[in-house]
Amino acid sequence: MFSRAVRPTVSLARSLSTSSQNNAKVAVLGASGGIGQPLSLLLKNSPLVSHLSLYDIAHTPGVAADLSHIETRAQVTGHMGPDQLDAALQGCDVVVIPAGVPRKPGMTRDDLFNTNATIVATLADACARNCPEAMICVIANPVNSTIPITSEVMKKHGVYNPNRVFGVTTLDIVRANTFVAELKGLDPARVNVPVIGGHAGKTIIPLISQCTPKAKAGAGSATLSMAYAGARFTFSVLDAMNGKEGVVECAYVRSEETECKYFSTPLLLGKNGIEKNLGLGKLSAFEEKLVADAMDELKGSIKKGEDFAAKMK
Ligand SMILES: NC(=O)c1ccc[n+]([C@@H]2O[C@H](COP(=O)([O-])OP(=O)(O)OC[C@H]3O[C@@H](n4cnc5c(N)ncnc54)[C@H](O)[C@@H]3O)[C@@H](O)[C@H]2O)c1
Repeated sequence: MFSRAVRPTVSLARSLSTSSQNNAKVAVLGASGGIGQPLSLLLKNSPLVSHLSLYDIAHTPGVAADLSHIETRAQVTGHMGPDQLDAALQGCDVVVIPAGVPRKPGMTRDDLFNTNATIVATLADACARNCPEAMICVIANPVNSTIPITSEVMKKHGVYNPNRVFGVTTLDIVRANTFVAELKGLDPARVNVPVIGGHAGKTIIPLISQCTPKAKAGAGSATLSMAYAGARFTFSVLDAMNGKEGVVECAYVRSEETECKYFSTPLLLGKNGIEKNLGLGKLSAFEEKLVADAMDELKGSIKKGEDFAAKMK
């Protein structure tokens, strides 16, 4: 019987060393950036990936050439500029999107909306046309709005599958695991703190009451730890697609679990993306209040994304 409190069975280290084989084509859109480059490095190092397709508006020929010299089997192709976007996406099984501008000190994730909404909408449109069945993992902020935008764009093309569109919130889980482990003197690899809600400010809700093992309770934008988190999430998606059972990750997805249309909770992943939403579980009174307090902001961010998508041609 599956336990929702169990840490995802796939650790990055295991994915890097496993001898299991897969033939997945994975695209990274925004591959030349602070997250895109180390994320692509981690993906190139994995036997789960047979073709790594790197797209950006700058520098992809160099990044692709550099990574292609690594002695792992994934074939690396570089694609630069809008003319090469379709080719980058054809036949993709998984698309990871770290494209867009990151926060600078003093900015909120929502300050990125105007620039990143257009970037994500353009990339989602290309996914809908070229690889409508791919798992789409959006890292670009504000995730609370870029997932509704991605969903609406896919709907416009008639190819929306809510089980295959993910807002990557794994960094929140990775951070929570690390902080709790530091505080309690535990091995971080053994800690699992589910983080629900969204991916901005007070919408990020770590569930310390559901932490295993039991525990009581910056400036700018992360790149290396986000690359790790993005790779961990992608490997979990790939492992589940390969038939591995019991793979669980939290992600921000279309949801019926609360009154918010999109909400992050632990998800059981399978061959076709989300197999089962494992829901919020039993919350403490404190956590219930955090969820209630997050609702208005989350709904506002979702509406903002949907309104943006509705106005697009
Ligand atoms: N989900 C999370 O937990 C999380 C964590 C950290 C950062 N982020 C977000 O990830 C995004 C990227 O951050 P970064 O530090 O790598 O930024 P960066 O500026 O270093 O890299 C962004 C890359 O995107 C590329 N790009 C811009 N427009 C593009 C387009 N139209 N098509 C393709 N590529 C395009 C740029 O050329 C650049 O290489 C930001 O939106 C940031 O807020 C999310």
